[in-house]
Amino acid sequence: MNTEQLTKKFMEKYGDNKHSYRVFNAPGRVNLIGEHLDYNGGYVLPAALEFGTTLVIRERDDKQISFASTNMSYEVVGSIKDDFNSKSDQWTDYPVGVIKELEKIGKSLTKGYDLLYHGDIPNGAGLSSSASLEVVTAYALLSMEGHETDTVEIAKLSQKAENLFVGVNSGIMDQFAVANGRKDHAILLMCDTLEYELVPFQTGSYKIVIANTNKRRGLVDSKYNERRSECDQALEILQKEIPALQYLAQLSPDQFKTLQDSILNETVRRRAQHVVEENQRVLDSVNALKNGDLEAFGQYMNQSHDSLRYLYEVTGDELDAMVEEFQRESGTLGARMTGAGFGGCTVALVHEDEVDKVIKAVGGGYETRTGLKPDFYVCGVGHGVHEIKEEI
Ligand code: GLA
Repeated sequence: MNTEQLTKKFMEKYGDNKHSYRVFNAPGRVNLIGEHLDYNGGYVLPAALEFGTTLVIRERDDKQISFASTNMSYEVVGSIKDDFNSKSDQWTDYPVGVIKELEKIGKSLTKGYDLLYHGDIPNGAGLSSSASLEVVTAYALLSMEGHETDTVEIAKLSQKAENLFVGVNSGIMDQFAVANGRKDHAILLMCDTLEYELVPFQTGSYKIVIANTNKRRGLVDSKYNERRSECDQALEILQKEIPALQYLAQLSPDQFKTLQDSILNETVRRRAQHVVEENQRVLDSVNALKNGDLEAFGQYMNQSHDSLRYLYEVTGDELDAMVEEFQRESGTLGARMTGAGFGGCTVALVHEDEVDKVIKAVGGGYETRTGLKPDFYVCGVGHGVHEIKEEI
């Protein structure tokens, strides 16, 4: 749906009033490499997608707030002070969580608003539809209220909304990428300090191909929390050897080798090994990108997937099948799962002349192996959150 169609729907839904609407957009994200590193204080390399969540918003004459979406049938209108104090287990928990966080930093809403969202990101596919919803809400409301829109602060606030109101214990990567993405750039983010560098993502004749396994990510929350606690256990043990260690990702692979035997539990040791080696892989793959060595970058993607499969154990049959199908195609430079894992999407770099052929072969092979029909998205790197002005 384009902006014109969406604003038309907005007018049909909410009618006219004396105020004018504004339109905002936040993308989804794909993580190119550096998985399960954000909550371990390491480096990640996500990029904003060209599709995301668009929000049309307009001031109301009363203090009520009204949420509606073209994707979801649930709608609600009420007073922020009285009607949104607990979770509803509906999609509106994400924007409501953001408003609660705005209140905590002294930026309570002074007016009422009508909001209409439209999302192009498949839900539950690991492309950060929730972060996109949070970030577009924060950016739009701060803009409407005449506040500064600092996109690093918006990322932090949106992560808090997700952790505290929605109750999902995610790291900062998704919100950060959605808020700070730049067209044709990947973001090298140090998750401990939030220092970041925009790295030109020039893939020449190679395209990013995202494949949705369409496997429901059933266990994602419980397994995600289990991995976090395994990393905490490893850190606690290693801190006995290095008291100043704050995060697992601060260890170099060599340091880890000399210390790893102190972690007696083999599973916990493998989790830590993934974190330390994946962190180094992010830095190596950024160097490869800067040197224009896409082949090396593709190899690091493949290694990352293996590490997530065998050491961190967050892939599963569907993600493994999809990645293997990509990797056997000569037009593919590299492929890996992206996001939390346990289903969701993979990301691959595929030669532009081979994209159609590869998608056909991978789609067929994957379906035969799993019985599931996948979806494919060939996409470029888009902008982080922004206001859409020119099209209306
Ligand atoms: C999910 C979380 C992120 C990150 C990834 C794994 O997407 O929301 O914070 O931990 O998993 O890299």
